[in-house]
Amino acid sequence: MKYTWNDIEQHVAVCTQCTLSQTRHRPVMGRGNHQAALMLIAEAPGVQEDQQGIPFVGSSGEILDKLLQDCGLDRKEIYITNIIKCHPPGNRDPEEGEKEACFPYLKYETFLLKPKIIVCLGRVAAQRIISPDFKITRQHGTWTYHKNCALTATYHPSAILRDSSKYELTKMDFREIARKLTEYKDVK
Ligand code: URA
Repeated sequence: MKYTWNDIEQHVAVCTQCTLSQTRHRPVMGRGNHQAALMLIAEAPGVQEDQQGIPFVGSSGEILDKLLQDCGLDRKEIYITNIIKCHPPGNRDPEEGEKEACFPYLKYETFLLKPKIIVCLGRVAAQRIISPDFKITRQHGTWTYHKNCALTATYHPSAILRDSSKYELTKMDFREIARKLTEYKDVK
């Protein structure tokens, strides 16, 4: 694979691999530090992200920033992306065909970044990346290991917007993620 970050961004910008290209305003390429050891993978751009072409700029983004701040992390140190790069109308779950069509972009992002830790935000990402039967309620905060990468999942910030009691659980998951990250800091 010889693609660069720039190549991927350019492909995503004009992608027509699925029908979401007909309804999106702007595709949302992942963003962040290309040297990051920590990669967050969420589900799909929301309405605000679709307008601005940037991940997590809406109300979910505010919650995410709060969680990051609470565990001493900053967006500048991490890389954030989504399973699919275009907004699904009405915020519905991404369809199988959409996830498949978009997967190569995520694969290239992961290949180029070579993260030490991948955190899936929410069920859709966890089931695509960790295991098809992953149950967020029961398994959030648990770790699996693949090659040189530690993988975990926690609640999606939009789940916290719907049920604020999930904030504390997610905060604890993020604190453990930040702790684990310190173990890898010197390795990268
Ligand atoms: N929700 C997501 O899953 N991704 C975003 O980028 C924004 C909201």
